[in-house]
Amino acid sequence: MPESSAVQRGLQDVVALESRICFIDGKLGRLIYQGYDIRDLAARSTFEEVAYLLWYGRLPNAEQLADLKSRFGQLRVLPEPLVELIDQLPVEANPMDILRTAVSALALFEPEETKPGASSIGGAQRLTAVLPTILGHFHRRRRGLPALKPHPELSQAAYLLYAILDSTPTELEAKAVDVALILHADHELNASTFAARVTASTLSDLYSSVTSAVGTLKGPLHGGANERVMELLDEIGTPHRVEEVVKAKLLRHERIMGFGHRVYKVEDPRATILRDWSRRLGEAKGDLHYFELLGQLEEVVHREKGLYPNVDLYSGSIYGLLGIPNDLFTPVFAASRVAGWTAHVLEEYQDLRLIRPTAKYVGALDLPYVPVGQRV
Ligand code: COA
Repeated sequence: MPESSAVQRGLQDVVALESRICFIDGKLGRLIYQGYDIRDLAARSTFEEVAYLLWYGRLPNAEQLADLKSRFGQLRVLPEPLVELIDQLPVEANPMDILRTAVSALALFEPEETKPGASSIGGAQRLTAVLPTILGHFHRRRRGLPALKPHPELSQAAYLLYAILDSTPTELEAKAVDVALILHADHELNASTFAARVTASTLSDLYSSVTSAVGTLKGPLHGGANERVMELLDEIGTPHRVEEVVKAKLLRHERIMGFGHRVYKVEDPRATILRDWSRRLGEAKGDLHYFELLGQLEEVVHREKGLYPNVDLYSGSIYGLLGIPNDLFTPVFAASRVAGWTAHVLEEYQDLRLIRPTAKYVGALDLPYVPVGQRV
């Protein structure tokens, strides 16, 4: 029999590799990108600066930042055959399936980036620039609107909103999304980033790695909890029903979405920042309905179960207030996390070692072989 060894289910607590990109302190509730606290970045930085930081390991100076913004602007245009391909896909498709297909198809138009070992920061910038165009184009098409004309001047956050909503956002709306993009840009070896690194570790290219990552993020245990939070809020309806609905769910051993975390044992620092933005946006729009419900929900879930909020508790309320449809929440997550995925893939190439764990075999051994004609 094979030697027995302890199995770490879900690879929980397994330290798989060394990385300089992201540090999570689950006990103190801190999240660090390349040495910088997420709270400073959310308060003082932009998504463009954070993407640069993740890729280059340092914040850009004014010239480097201007250069990146201008590159993002130029790289937003999709190749015409890809636009035609998206136009042929079913309008009722899950937008994450559209995104996965479009990222994979885009690789066919960028052959320089898809040769083994040729992937570069240029490819990372291209993918980050273009994801909002893919989402916007698909969303417009399913609403019967004419094709999206990419806007080269807007920030990534403003462009993402423009692409989805067909109007230029206010400064406050764009900043709220910018903060959400900063907070979602990376999170160490989460499942989709790990999937991207596994793909890269075979010396496959950046586009294949990001295609793996999009497929992994699609799963409801990873992306998508914020969508469920919004469904829960709609189910609850009014603040006086929070207690009753939560208690009934806990009695049925159901999970309350937006609470708990594998790594954070205190409040997720991203939730703290997004709570504030949910309030600010709610006040600006004269609609604090979601914010008030979420406050009540936090109180009841903490009292009943001792759980703290995670990033997904407030993000959905922000996207909902902005008019982003629920099924685009996970794609919006991808439009931010692509910066982290690509940074990790490029880091993987720097210190390449094929990622290939082993399994503890629990199947049969030494079965006698029976020819096909004699099998029952
Ligand atoms: N609602 C209710 N109970 C929860 C819970 C939640 N959101 N999260 C954890 N728990 C409970 C579990 O039922 C378990 O209770 P028990 O010991 O009485 O059985 C205990 O807390 C530990 O749960 P476990 O699944 O071991 O924790 P984990 O670290 O593996 O789970 C998550 C992490 C994120 C999967 C989990 O908290 C969850 O499912 N949250 C809801 C989904 C979500 O918001 N995901 C987004 C994450 S950013």
